[in-house]
Amino acid sequence: MRTFAQGCIAGCCAGLVLFAAAGCKKLPPPTPLSELNPQQMHGYQVYQANCAQCHNDRTNQPLNGPSLRSIFKKQYLDSGAPATDDRVMDAILYGRQMMPPMGSRMTPQEREDLLAYLHTL
Ligand code: HEC
Repeated sequence: MRTFAQGCIAGCCAGLVLFAAAGCKKLPPPTPLSELNPQQMHGYQVYQANCAQCHNDRTNQPLNGPSLRSIFKKQYLDSGAPATDDRVMDAILYGRQMMPPMGSRMTPQEREDLLAYLHTL
């Protein structure tokens, strides 16, 4: 009886650990395009024009660069920098090692809209 109880407790704990680990990995999905507000929708167009050739936004598959899905739902960017508006805007403005600086290709408004879109991923 005692061993049965112990086994049961161990089983429950293992289950909880597994559940917690899975819970960490499973981030909520991007907001469907049909539910974006006008600013986010405009940001989506900016994304298509400037980022989509190198970054996936709705799958985790890397392209030329890492996927940007869930970018603001994670704590850190690929480089280990914190996932904040400032750091992402820096990447856009000044580029990365293999990413060209793209700030001058967009107006300040377009960059803001792009950030708003990235927050829906
Ligand atoms: C020509 C390809 C290319 C384009 C276009 C491009 N990127 Fe990148 N991006 C990359 C690559 C490659 C990396 C990986 C880091 C590096 O450059 O070594 C990257 C990295 C990033 C990172 C991660 C930065 C970090 O600190 O880890 C962010 C955020 C990012 N890109 C956002 C964007 C956004 C937003 C756009 C559109 C305005 C964009 N990228 C356009 C190639 C590109």
